[in-house]
This record gives sequence, structure tokens and C-alpha cells, in this order.
Amino acid sequence: MSAAVLPTHPLGSTGLDVTTLCVGTSPLASMKRLYGYDVSDERAIATVEAVFDSPIRFIDTSNGYGDDGSAERRIGAAIRARGGLPADVVLATKVDPDPETGAFDGDRVRASYAESLERLGVERVPLLYLHDPERIPFEDGIAPGGPVEAMLELRAAGLVDHLGVAGGPVGLLQQYLDTDAFSVVLSHNRYTLLDRSAQVLFEGAHARGIGVANAAPYGGGMLAKGPETQTKYGYGERDDRVAAAARAMRDACERHGVTLAAAALQFSLRAPFVDTTVVGVSSPERVAQTVEYATVEIPEELWPELEELVPDASLWLN
Ligand SMILES: NC(=O)c1ccc[n+]([C@@H]2O[C@H](COP(=O)([O-])OP(=O)(O)OC[C@H]3O[C@@H](n4cnc5c(N)ncnc54)[C@H](OP(=O)(O)O)[C@@H]3O)[C@@H](O)[C@H]2O)c1
Repeated sequence: MSAAVLPTHPLGSTGLDVTTLCVGTSPLASMKRLYGYDVSDERAIATVEAVFDSPIRFIDTSNGYGDDGSAERRIGAAIRARGGLPADVVLATKVDPDPETGAFDGDRVRASYAESLERLGVERVPLLYLHDPERIPFEDGIAPGGPVEAMLELRAAGLVDHLGVAGGPVGLLQQYLDTDAFSVVLSHNRYTLLDRSAQVLFEGAHARGIGVANAAPYGGGMLAKGPETQTKYGYGERDDRVAAAARAMRDACERHGVTLAAAALQFSLRAPFVDTTVVGVSSPERVAQTVEYATVEIPEELWPELEELVPDASLWLN
């Protein structure tokens, strides 16, 4: 597949140009509790190699994906096997709390970033996110000696170019954006065919020139594998009406000759306020499938039909 297949997009006003598809690597960490299956070292490394050989030039990971950073270690193995990260690939990672003590202060931010660089086998990353800040009170996040201050110091020291905030609850992400420390926001499972909680956050961020990464367009798998195979939405069991909406959407897609997965992916890709869509994959064949789902033609008439089927806002994650 030619590298010209996928468009690139400015990531807000960071100056980074990224492909509109980003590969997310939490499934590569073999997190059976979230996804329901294990992923071997070999399969994970082969998946990253397939990404390097694909038109997708943006990879998202985290210090905290898997025991002892297994997602980063596996990405690092693929990078080393290539003799280095391909020059045109943007690699983003995230800082996480100490897995043993739960500490998420400035010292931990510095240690987390150092660990990530060592596992990945790179000298720096251009984009570093504060990961799931819902794990600590906002006041602790922005306190002197806290994680935000340490991230700003890393940036001031030139050790990272851009800071992002990545998490779930949209109100908290907005509070972090309002500190003006972050030039990229990532939220997950909250701007999909089934849930629109992040739309206002994303629109506001985009209008301010903040890069918008929309993660988990399949809701963690339900919209790709179907609600019978992946009964969870956003990593948790949900009201039956969510799965019922997914089934009704799949029927609508079938009537138009497209897959639910393609519609779910393009729903995110077509949003004018989303710069990149982060899709989790854990096998090499998924990489080509993802590019195919992103580029297959979808009849315009399908979108209003799917809009009619969106679950009530009371069922969204928020
Ligand atoms: N707080 C955060 O920062 C945060 C939170 C959530 C997500 N993220 C990022 O966003 C990424 C995406 O989220 P996610 O992986 O949880 O959810 P997702 O992209 O909505 O769904 C991933 C699931 O969909 C399946 N899938 C993908 N392509 C498929 C295809 N073509 N056919 C069938 N199944 C397919 C994957 O299965 P296989 O494993 O079988 O490929 C995996 O189970 C994460 O990997 C992570 O990098 C960040």
C-alpha cells in the first residue's frame, strides 16, 4: 500500500503533521481484563512492524499499558529490529502513576518518562500526555511539585516538544485544557456512533488550536467485532440499550452494503474537529483492515439513519 493513501492533518497548532489514523497500542499490552484475550510478544511485535510498513505514521502508547510497560517494550523491540524509529513516524507516549505506590507527582512524571524512553529505545518523543488524570484530584494535578508542573519543566528543558492530556471524563479534561499547559487533548469512547459526550470538548479545543485525538472509535471493540463478541462498551458492561443500538446500526450498515466497523471509523474521521483517530489493533492483518475501513466509500444517506439510532444522552459515558 502506498504511503500516499492516507491524508495527514496538522495536530492543532503543534506544527506536527500526523496521519488522520493513529494506531493505539493498549491491545498490544495483552490486557485480557479490558479486551478479553491475550496477545503474545511475537504477535505484538509483528503488529508494530506492520504499522511501520503501512501508510499510518502515528503511534500512541503509554507507560502504563500492560504489566511492566509491555506495550512500550514490544514497540521498542520492533523499533530496535528496524535499527531505529522510521523518521516519518510520530510516536506519542504518556506518563502514568507509579504502579506500586500509585504516586503521581512530579518525581513520578520524570521517572515515568525516563522509563518510557528506555523501553522504547528512543531519545525523546515529540508528544507526551498526562495519562488518565482522573486517578488524582485536579488540585493535586496542578499543585506545585505535581505532574503538570513537572511536564512543563520537561518541555521547558527541551526534552519533549508538546504536552497533551489524555483521559476519559470530559469535564476534567476541559479543566486541564483551561490551564493552558496542553496543546493536545485525547479522549476515548466518547465520540463514537454510540456516545457523543466529547463533542463539545473537542469542538472547543479545535477552535482554540488544540490538537484533537479521538481514541477508541469502536468503543473498545463493540463497534468492530459486534456486540455479541464484545459485550463491553468503553471497557465496562453497559445498559442493554447500548448493544441494541449497535445491532440496529449494524443492520442499517448492512442495508447500505458497508460494515459497522467502517462506519464507526469514518464517523470519527469525517468530524471536522478531530485531527486524528486512534484505533487499537493487536494483529498485523488489522492494520490493512483499518486502512481499508478508513477509505471504503460510505453512502451519504447512511449517516442520518445512524443518527436516528444514537442512544439517549443519559447512557453516554460523559
Ligand atoms: N486514556 C487514554 O489515554 C486512552 C484510553 C483509551 C484508549 N486510548 C488509546 O486509543 C487506542 C484505541 O482504543 P481501544 O484500543 O481501547 O479501542 P478501539 O480502537 O475502539 O477498539 C479496539 C478493539 O477493536 C478491535 N478491532 C480493531 N480493528 C478491528 C477490525 N478491523 N476488526 C475487528 N476488530 C477490530 C481490536 O481487536 P484486535 O485486538 O483483535 O485487533 C480491539 O479489541 C488505545 O489502544 C490507546 O492507544 C487511550
